[in-house]
Amino acid sequence: MKNPINLAIFASGNGSNFSAIVKAIKQKKIKVRSVILVCDKPEAFVIQRAQKAKIPVVLIRREDFVNRGDFEEGIVQRLKNYKINLIVLAGFMRILSVSFVKLYHNRVMNIHPSLLPDFKGAHAIEDAFKHKPSFTGVTVHFIDEQVDNGPVILQQKVKINKSDSLFLLERRIHALEHKLYPEAIKLFVNAKLKIRAGKVYLG
Ligand code: GAR
Repeated sequence: MKNPINLAIFASGNGSNFSAIVKAIKQKKIKVRSVILVCDKPEAFVIQRAQKAKIPVVLIRREDFVNRGDFEEGIVQRLKNYKINLIVLAGFMRILSVSFVKLYHNRVMNIHPSLLPDFKGAHAIEDAFKHKPSFTGVTVHFIDEQVDNGPVILQQKVKINKSDSLFLLERRIHALEHKLYPEAIKLFVNAKLKIRAGKVYLG
């Protein structure tokens, strides 16, 4: 392995994206040296998914630290123990500080269920469903200092049909997420992503 990747998937909830990424790794579509789950919620379903898939779990609760700085320092120490060099946020519902973003510059990806910069925030699918543009979509991007912002790696549209229920729209968006996130990670692992002047180029 030329540039071995030790991957940390950060998640706080259900973990369907976690499972899609782990499946792609197990099927050898993405070649990483190691993978761990970092989770901040002991009750999150993603922990059960990780245990079933025999992926090491780092559980780190914000409540066990006096402030966000110490909490992130705790995370960084654990990432160093596992020699992590790529982080993917998969429904990790915490805002990372500017110093964390700087430490892992262009090494933290996020997935967001909209065509960023549209519908930032924690309720992107509901917000798009309410406003009914013709299209919404999915964005995978490197994070920067702002929330749901940063150089776009892959972005794909999802049509909103007149007859759509929120459930149907969510289902199509999640299906696309499960395809797009492994693709984006594979591009990174295979050194196909070049970043110049805040833009990602494939090749
Ligand atoms: C995903 O839809 C992801 O795009 C979203 O959280 C969900 C997690 O689902 N992330 C954000 O909204 C980030 N702003 P999952 O736990 O089933 O992977």
